[in-house]
Amino acid sequence: MNAQKIIQQMTLQEKAGLLSGKDSWNTLNISRLNIESIRMSDGPHGLRKQYYDNSVDDNESIPATCFPPATTVACSFNKEIAYIMGEAIARECLSEKVDILLAPGINIKRNPLCGRNFEYFSEDPYLTSQIAMAFIKGVQSKGVGVCLKHYAANSQEAYRFSNDSIVDKRSLNEIYLYSFRKIIEELDIESVMCSYNMINGIYSCENKYLLNDLLREEWNFKGIVVSDWGATNDRVESLKAGLDLEMPSSKGLNDKKIVDAVINKQLSEDVINTSVERILNLQENFKKKIIDSFPLDKIENHNIAYEVAKESFVLLKNDNILPLNVDDDFVIIGDLAKNPHIQGWGSSRVNPTYINNTFYELKKRKEGIKYSRGYSDIPEECATLVSQAVKLAKEHKIILLFIGLTDEYESEGADRISLKIPNNQYRLLEELYKVNKNIVVILNGGGVLNVEFLEHTKAILYTLLPGQAGSRAVVDMLFGDVNPSGKLAESCPKKICDIPSYKFYPGGSRASNYLESIYVGYRYYDTYNIDVRFPFGYGLSYTNFQLSNFSINKQKDKFIVELDIENTGNYSGSEVVQLYVRNKTDNTFFASQELKKFEKIFLKINEKRHLSMDVEFNDLMYFDFDSDKFELATGNYEVAIGTSSRDIKHIFKLEIQGSKTEKVFIRPKSYHEHTQFNNDDFKLLINSDVIPPQNKKISRPFTFNTSLKEMRKTMFGKILHSLVTKNIKENAILNEESASRQADYVTFRTMVLLGGFSYYKAEAILHFMNREIFKGILSLFKKERKDPNGKE
Ligand code: BGC
Repeated sequence: MNAQKIIQQMTLQEKAGLLSGKDSWNTLNISRLNIESIRMSDGPHGLRKQYYDNSVDDNESIPATCFPPATTVACSFNKEIAYIMGEAIARECLSEKVDILLAPGINIKRNPLCGRNFEYFSEDPYLTSQIAMAFIKGVQSKGVGVCLKHYAANSQEAYRFSNDSIVDKRSLNEIYLYSFRKIIEELDIESVMCSYNMINGIYSCENKYLLNDLLREEWNFKGIVVSDWGATNDRVESLKAGLDLEMPSSKGLNDKKIVDAVINKQLSEDVINTSVERILNLQENFKKKIIDSFPLDKIENHNIAYEVAKESFVLLKNDNILPLNVDDDFVIIGDLAKNPHIQGWGSSRVNPTYINNTFYELKKRKEGIKYSRGYSDIPEECATLVSQAVKLAKEHKIILLFIGLTDEYESEGADRISLKIPNNQYRLLEELYKVNKNIVVILNGGGVLNVEFLEHTKAILYTLLPGQAGSRAVVDMLFGDVNPSGKLAESCPKKICDIPSYKFYPGGSRASNYLESIYVGYRYYDTYNIDVRFPFGYGLSYTNFQLSNFSINKQKDKFIVELDIENTGNYSGSEVVQLYVRNKTDNTFFASQELKKFEKIFLKINEKRHLSMDVEFNDLMYFDFDSDKFELATGNYEVAIGTSSRDIKHIFKLEIQGSKTEKVFIRPKSYHEHTQFNNDDFKLLINSDVIPPQNKKISRPFTFNTSLKEMRKTMFGKILHSLVTKNIKENAILNEESASRQADYVTFRTMVLLGGFSYYKAEAILHFMNREIFKGILSLFKKERKDPNGKE
């Protein structure tokens, strides 16, 4: 039966019921109309299917392969491997009857401190879109759906439920929405998840510009929009704006609001029908694909996780010490060798089927190899551990030192506060360096780390978050069986204060001002010549590559660059050729260069290949403040070919006739000259006389959207805050400080929607906190009504 016919037979109650989850992961099924549930599960780097349909707890999921997270995969610059990983995860979805994988996360890494950067690909929108697109094609090739998240400008965890991202329209379109647009225009996407935050004053879930004008009208999106879990603010307004499905179940609470709004004529039933139709169409689509039993080869997927890691690790430094020989006299130091940090915390956390550890993998190569733990989270243990490690370091020639972030540092819900490795590890390294200069660091961590200890090492192999099979790849690389070929998908600054958004990230409890506009990552460092520790696109190899015979051919709508690439060294291996375009027109302010194409090539020793890369002129457009759309600037350009954003081998000049010749009216000085991004210039970009304050003085009445941090000054707020902190700590390996920061950001709205409190209990507490004792008592006695669709 087609969707329209089913809708005619549905009651208003049933329609409202279909517009939010039946439980935490499924949509409502209505057997009399043959409507089945759609099952969703996280994502992104493995299947996190909860044992219980009404649980969102991080720790309760079935065993599944933990692939390297997006932060790692992006460094592979390898679309093929991303596709294979997508296929492999989809096979796990099929075997568990999951229809939609809540992945990929394609937010831009605006600042390296964002707590969820490990779930995201890159600071660069083009690289993000390309790797994500390949991953999606892999997932969809098996008939499993995807969900692009988190739409949009959700580049921080601080105050994620209440924060307002104030972003100018140009950087919104060029940087933060680019991947969403690209992917939706090119592929058939099943769903998009709107984020918790507000964008320019309007919750993402109620943002008509995002959900309707761009997504549906401009980009022609045909799938459904799903709320992030607990992100819905005003359900009726969100429906009007284009949010089809609220997740998880609001236990009938918001369904009732929808029904009431229709009865009271505040909401047209047509709006409901449109969303119901989209959900029914999607459900019908999955029905056709249902497979009764799907055999899963877990070993095969473990091996794919290894292949992804192998393509992704980045060799940051090598003073002729790597690769090692098995006969070399080396020793292993560092707890991470035995307990690798393979993924971050939060909703993406996979319960691995198996975990390789490097110590064990090294032992397989060299029986009797010595190990010393080196550091611990318990301060009292550290002195002894360091002296044991130093003793061992004195007795051997080479130290394989495993350091980086441990589990409690990278988590959804809280940002990092530093780019440094933990202090106890840093002290260990200093002590080791005093007695042995041959230190090879194996650096573990999903976020950018300030490698301030660079001079104290002979080599650094950066394994990011390696996934469950990554340790095997580490060992293969240390011995040269695999040649490292990953490239940094995020620049590594020298100092935290060099980060473009350093001064205004993450903003306050109310707003985060994106003053740096388009200057994110290398777009900033390269434009303003800021020295970095390692540039975007950087990564070493055990072999050498030579690029030669460059030529360019300009055609009507595109240009084609051709070149030869040869492996002139002693190992076979892969190089990533990167094509950057430099807009030299003076139409407005531009980043000095932008990545527009890349190609990863594998070459045997002495092998030479011809390479051709084409770029459409349309891909060189910028978002114009005056005309409010993408334009192609007429004038001079350069095309730079290199092996990192700072290692350019050849530059071509190019003249392009575009759609826009005259200069853009809005030309804030600081964006051209980099004095300092300042509020006055930012006002021009956001076309407003005022910039919303980052923090507001919060006074009573507290609302469902007040964060616990803001309530903390009251006695009850303090108690509640410590209870929530305790609960967060119990569910994740987080230290007190970061659990308490996570608790800061929680609001009553999210506590209700995520099942912490019933609505009326929350209402009662809010009344009491607002000193409305009588109203509070009344709320305590209000009973949740039984949901007609049976949602509990
Ligand atoms: C996260 C989403 C995730 C959802 C379901 C939310 O807290 O932001 O990325 O898909 O939970 O677990």
